[in-house]
Amino acid sequence: MDTFPYQWQLDKLKVLFVENERKSSELFVSCFDEEFLIIPVATAEDALEVFDKESDIAMILTDQNLPGMSGVDLLSRIYSQAPEVIRIIITAYIDISDTIDAINKGHIYQFILKPWDVVQMRMILGQAAQTWVLTKENTMLHDQVVEQNRLLLETNQQCQVSEKNLRHLSTSLLNAREDEQKRIAMELHDELGQSLAALKLQIMVMKNEFQESEDVSIWLDRLRADINEIIENTRRISRNLSPVIIEDLGLDAALENMVQGFSKACGITCTFKPRSLRAIRSIDGQRLVYRLVQESLTNICKHAKATHIELIITIKEKDIAEITIADNGKGFDINSRAGELLKDKGIGMTAMEHRADMLGGSVEIKSTIGRGTTVILTFPLNSGLL
Ligand SMILES: Nc1ncnc2c1ncn2[C@@H]1O[C@H](COP(=O)(O)OP(=O)(O)O)[C@@H](O)[C@H]1O
Ligand SMILES: [Mg+2]
Repeated sequence: MDTFPYQWQLDKLKVLFVENERKSSELFVSCFDEEFLIIPVATAEDALEVFDKESDIAMILTDQNLPGMSGVDLLSRIYSQAPEVIRIIITAYIDISDTIDAINKGHIYQFILKPWDVVQMRMILGQAAQTWVLTKENTMLHDQVVEQNRLLLETNQQCQVSEKNLRHLSTSLLNAREDEQKRIAMELHDELGQSLAALKLQIMVMKNEFQESEDVSIWLDRLRADINEIIENTRRISRNLSPVIIEDLGLDAALENMVQGFSKACGITCTFKPRSLRAIRSIDGQRLVYRLVQESLTNICKHAKATHIELIITIKEKDIAEITIADNGKGFDINSRAGELLKDKGIGMTAMEHRADMLGGSVEIKSTIGRGTTVILTFPLNSGLL
């Protein structure tokens, strides 16, 4: 016996056989009931009733010449309810108008002439079964694709919301950090700075008191020099914590001051080619630029082992500002950082990206091991953000 490709499935395919001639119906059942689960009925009405009750009918074979409703009309009804069911018509004679009807209305899969031949019928049923299984699998795959697309879309939307929330959170964090640093800077300046100044005065008074003793005088001079250094360091820390200098002197002077300070503190020579950034009106915008340059310079000081820095500010077409900070240090492997989680990489460059984003711009970092690092910050001066 031929085996059909669907037979690996546990259930036999259901076949609805509509025929009012009993002998013909019995012959069909006896020939094919091992391979198929056959439901024989005698009228179109019975066929429709079975069709309503039974699920997963794979094929319907019907005689054209039925009492009441014709085979073609039955198939046309079935087609409108379940287009995936394979529809086969069996007819004793070929009438051209019936044929056209069957094709147009019933969307039939195959015509079989009566009396049918068992071998040919088996072949047609086999092919029909294969078509049905393929169609089913296709529909299942299609449904899976649709479902997966839906899930993807949903995940994508969730990702977008999370990203928005994260941006909001990191903006708030950066702002909170800025506020906190400002508070600490003021405490340092006002409290510690004032106390140190008072201490310096007391030393001067003491020096007057003990002017006869040379030893004490030398000792007090040293103490005063130490306190001066502490005051200077406190000022520097306070300035770095919160760049009030921007508010006092403006961004251009603040940047120049910072570059000089870094050059001196880190012992690195610096070529500075400034252009005025006074088009940045808001203090928040100015602070963002200041912090970006500061982070770059801190990284050079901390990691680069460079001997020279070039800091070039240019204003390009359409009011695009570009700040390039290049060092001749040891460089690093940027790509190895790309896939890393935030917790595994420094926060500095991530904060730089975020600050550049807040400026409506972007930051590009190029680095070659042994040949230095270049940070290019680009942002529009007229984005309305500044
Ligand atoms: N100019 C530079 N030269 C060499 N390495 C650098 C430079 N800038 C950054 N890096 C490398 O990138 C890493 C990440 O920098 P960053 O995000 O600022 O974090 P952090 O400075 O806290 O380590 C640094 O640890 C360092 O290895
Ligand atoms: Mg850093």
